[in-house]
Amino acid sequence: MPNAKKTKVQDPMAIQTLGDPRVKSPLLRIRGSEDDEYDCSGVFVEDACRILIDVEMAEVRNQWKNGHEPESFEAAGPRRMIFFDPVKVKAAILTAGGLCPGLNDVIRSLVLTMHFRYGVRNIFGIRYGYQGLVPRFGHDLIELTPGYVSDIHQFGGSVLSSSRGMYDVPEMVDALERLNISVLFTIGGDGTLRGASRIVEEIGRRNLKIAVVGVPKTIDNDINLVARSFGFETAVATAAEVIKAAHTEALGAPWGIGVVKLMGRESGFIAATASLAQGEANYVLIPESDFDFDGPGGLLAELENRLKNRGHAVIVVAEGAGQKFFQSQPEAFDASGNRKQGDIGRYLCDRVREYFQAKNVEINLKYMDPSYLIRSQPANATDRVYCGFLGQKAVHAAMAGKTNLVIGTWNNHYVHVPIPKAVASRKKVHTDGVLWRSVLEATGQPPLAAEA
Ligand code: F6P
Repeated sequence: MPNAKKTKVQDPMAIQTLGDPRVKSPLLRIRGSEDDEYDCSGVFVEDACRILIDVEMAEVRNQWKNGHEPESFEAAGPRRMIFFDPVKVKAAILTAGGLCPGLNDVIRSLVLTMHFRYGVRNIFGIRYGYQGLVPRFGHDLIELTPGYVSDIHQFGGSVLSSSRGMYDVPEMVDALERLNISVLFTIGGDGTLRGASRIVEEIGRRNLKIAVVGVPKTIDNDINLVARSFGFETAVATAAEVIKAAHTEALGAPWGIGVVKLMGRESGFIAATASLAQGEANYVLIPESDFDFDGPGGLLAELENRLKNRGHAVIVVAEGAGQKFFQSQPEAFDASGNRKQGDIGRYLCDRVREYFQAKNVEINLKYMDPSYLIRSQPANATDRVYCGFLGQKAVHAAMAGKTNLVIGTWNNHYVHVPIPKAVASRKKVHTDGVLWRSVLEATGQPPLAAEA
């Protein structure tokens, strides 16, 4: 659109930096001569390389027509000029929040990239998340070397361990100062990223040169503006196996009902995607889609019809679904500030049993709650590859002096997402979007809410 007049507005996706990058990247020695041509798809990436957020042509046209530049992310990747002198860098890594497949793979990738690509020799693991930055807990540091991390990807969990919750921010920044840390990697979800952003603010107040870079972790896949968080695919693959088992059990008895409860506190990505992967769920209940038990279109009547016609049924329920049934319970929050959920899995089973008991119909209900099993696994192959990329891109960003960002993927590109944008809201399953429509098509599930 050469003739469009663009208004210069402040870029909402601008990435904070610690200062001008004046150090030649050591990758120049490894990857090619300084005079190599480079562009957005080359070895080195320039800050001017941008990835469109909305790629729908109509939207792009509309933005240009109205004189706006369409919103875009800064592309991730190695910069020719970096901010830190790598031999003087002291880096720290922490994992916070719930465990997730791939934590060790990310730690490994961070360490190997820093050590071999940049020549960083001082890399420390902070134990038990943000707690490890608070002296009164007495957690030791772990020196992370290529030898230390060489086999850690074989195991689930985190070699650094994790914890939920945030601590006094000035106290934590005191610790970073005391340790002379120049780069902090925070591997975590929403709560961890909020914490990272508060640390960035305090670093800014003290005018310190410490880069803080996040890597998006959560099996729930609910980080805003991040197409996929690592660990999600492994969790889905494990969850799909449980749905398969529930289906087998449901088929194995008259009026067999398999109920599977899956993690997914606020967003139903795991339940929806695992149901698609396995293709045997008949009802998928997620936080984003309302449902009722009673009434002619409610779940119980639907289930009865299904059992009469097909003899068995599989129900997949995300832990955050149907929370309206627990409104009388007092609100409680965990250390990360997440609302504690009522146990929809057990409640659903009770309601189904009561319903059929009242009708004197014998059912065979098998309830499966794989719970932490889906997130304590080592990462599968695709997550492993993904974790490797995320670690590399995080190191490139940090060495370039970029801060207050989380590495994301968007439209098949690795990008820098400002943390404040990533935590501004939670990513949800759009009930009119392609994922949920596909679930409805695959299951044939009708609307289950009275007002639907
Ligand atoms: O990491 C997110 C998550 O897997 C949620 O789906 C789940 O509600 C939560 O963790 C449970 O973890 P914890 O018991 O450690 O709080």
